[in-house]
Order: sequence, then structure tokens, then C-alpha cells
Amino acid sequence: MAAPMVKQEIIEGEVIESHEEEKEREHFARIINAFKCYKPFSLRRVDDAVKHFNALPQRHKDLVPNFLDHLTTIRECIEQNDSIIRLIIQDAEHIFENKQNMAKNGGDIKALVPLVSDLDKVKTTLKQFVRDWSEAGEHERKACYEPVIHEIEARFPKEFVDTSGVHILVPGAGLGRLAFELARRGYNCQGNEWSLFMLFSSNFVLNKCKSMDTHTLHPWVHQWTNNMTNEDQTEAITFPDIDTSTIPENVQFSMAAGDFLEVYQDPETWDCLATVFFIDTAHNIIAYIETIYKILKPGGYWVNLGPLLYHYSDMPNEMSIELSYDEVKRVIEQIGFVFEKEEKNVKSTYTQSLNSMLHYTYDSVFFVVKKPS
Ligand SMILES: C[S@@+](CC[C@H](N)C(=O)[O-])C[C@H]1O[C@@H](n2cnc3c(N)ncnc32)[C@H](O)[C@@H]1O
Repeated sequence: MAAPMVKQEIIEGEVIESHEEEKEREHFARIINAFKCYKPFSLRRVDDAVKHFNALPQRHKDLVPNFLDHLTTIRECIEQNDSIIRLIIQDAEHIFENKQNMAKNGGDIKALVPLVSDLDKVKTTLKQFVRDWSEAGEHERKACYEPVIHEIEARFPKEFVDTSGVHILVPGAGLGRLAFELARRGYNCQGNEWSLFMLFSSNFVLNKCKSMDTHTLHPWVHQWTNNMTNEDQTEAITFPDIDTSTIPENVQFSMAAGDFLEVYQDPETWDCLATVFFIDTAHNIIAYIETIYKILKPGGYWVNLGPLLYHYSDMPNEMSIELSYDEVKRVIEQIGFVFEKEEKNVKSTYTQSLNSMLHYTYDSVFFVVKKPS
């Protein structure tokens, strides 16, 4: 077993307008800037907590003598997270094989104040490390990824199929664990991601982390509410929980950057698509289903698990069609798929802190459908 570098590439048409490139660079610089602003903006939040504490009457302060120490620990956790962020963005400008110098000119970007939504995404990305690459995320992966992997193994069994001839696509791959697990089992696998937050981070885990559990993060440090103990907020996780070089040499494993609908237009290309917590990221879920059908080979499978938390629902100026699962199912069948398996109420969580007093659990739907041969 050797460690192939996980290829990251931007896929696009042959003609690229220069203003498109400029926009790409600006976007790139914006995301790098958000990562860089993580520490000062997070520390500002701690400063506010100190200010509020100092404004308390002395007798109240005396009742919680450890509170300021706790805030000092939070600062240390933020510093630690920032040291990982620095590593994540260190090589970011070189991550795309077919696009060099993404940072060129991008450094001149005018608006250096990050968007609140971008800062939130940095924090979400830190939590995503728990889900995909830490032992603490194992229960989540068991619920969300394992059923998908089992179905794929059942439909393309190693005993009867040359797995290196099976091509699987994982759209909305997040930090890449599901795609990695499929590649580790011998299937050719491509993860597709839209978000540079995710792509920079998956590049770091898959290409730069050379041994297990060498890095530490404090993913819940921004969770100021619903903590049972102070330690719950500052809890550390280590990553990666697995040797990321355990991919067979003959397996092609890559991550492709870009919008799923734009990148994947070649018909009858893939043997299988695996989507987890993805289909509800669509503006128009019907377009996703249509594309999945088109790019699957006849006889190919689509395995899906997740809820319908439509991401663009009620977002100002964003188009969003929110179909119920019943309607989604009808569309899937009308487009031509045949249901082979369906389970409802599959309990699943997403970047959930086990210790929090607040828990969100989805009753996800899990299905396997086939494009007729
Ligand atoms: C809810 S997350 C799920 C990530 C991963 N599948 C998991 O289960 O942890 C949805 C992911 O889809 C990505 N995404 C959203 N729209 C996309 C698009 N049009 N093309 C590719 N990826 C997209 C997001 O950036 C995000 O990482």
C-alpha cells in the first residue's frame, strides 16, 4: 500500500474568461482571509465575555471564581485551533494541480473585513474534522456513512467484481471521509466539493497529515451555550484517526472542485453515486436528480442518506424549491430510477457535540435506486 497524493483539480470548460479567473482569485483570497481572521475575531468574542463578567457586581463575581480562568483556557484553545488553520492554508494556493498561483493578485483584495457567514464556515469546518477524521466522530460516521458503504460493497462485491474498474462519485464530499473509505476499499473514487473551506481542509488531512492523531483541535470552543461543564466547551479532539495513506496503489482517488451541476455533464460515466447530507443543498433538487440519472451508467446505482434541510430555503434572493420526501421520491421514479431499498427514520446527526445539552437528530431517509440497464 502506498500513499498516492490525492489529486485536487478545478474542472471547467476550455475557454476561461479572464474576468472569471479574476473572480475566482478574489473568492480564493476571501476564503483565505476568513481563515486568517479566525483568531482575532474569535478572541474578540472572549474579550466581550471578560467585559460582561467584569461588569458584574463583586458578590456575583465571587460566586464564580473560576470563570476568568475558563476564559483564559478558551483563548488557549482558539490559539491552538489557529495553529491548525495556519497549516491548512499554508499550501492552499498550490492545491489545484491545474491551477497555480491562485493567490496571485488575490492578496490585493480590498474588503479585508470577513463576512460573518465566512467566519461561521471556518468554525463549521473545524467541527467537520470531528465528523470525518476523529475517533469522537465515529458514532456519526457509523450512522451516516456505514449504511452507504455496506450497500456499495453488496452491489459491487470484491469477490465477484474487479473493484478497480468501479467508478464512484461522491458529490458534496465535505472533508472527504466517505470518498476516502470507498477508495480504501479498492473502488476508484472522486469526491466533489464546492466549498474552498472544505477543499483546503480535506487537502490538509489527505495530503499533509502523515501519521495518526498528530493534530489537536478544540471544535466546541465557540459553543457558548448548553454546556454541562466548562470542560465540554474546551474539549480537545485529535485527528486523523486513521492512516490516510492506506489507499491501494492501483486506485484512483481525487477531489474535484466545483458546482456538481456544472462539473458533471458527461452522460453514462459513473457506476455509482453516493450522496450523504447532500441533495438538500440544491436550489432545485429536480436538477440534481436529473443530473445523477444522466451521469450514471445504465445499471448504475445511486445510494443516498440524509434529510431535506433545504439549504437555500428562506434565504433572501435565493431560489429554492422545497419538495417533501414523497414528492422527491415520485420525481426519482418518474425520471426513470427503480427503488431497490428504502428506509425512513434513520437516526443521524451532523457535527453534533455528544456532551451538549442541545441535540439535533434527523430522521433521515436512506435509499438505493438503480438506473435500469
Ligand atoms: C451538509 S454538507 C455534507 C458533507 C458530507 N457529505 C458529510 O456528510 O459530512 C453538504 C456539502 O455539499 C457541498 N455542496 C453544496 N452545494 C454543492 C454543489 N452544488 N456542488 C458541490 N458541492 C456542494 C457543501 O459545500 C458541503 O460541504
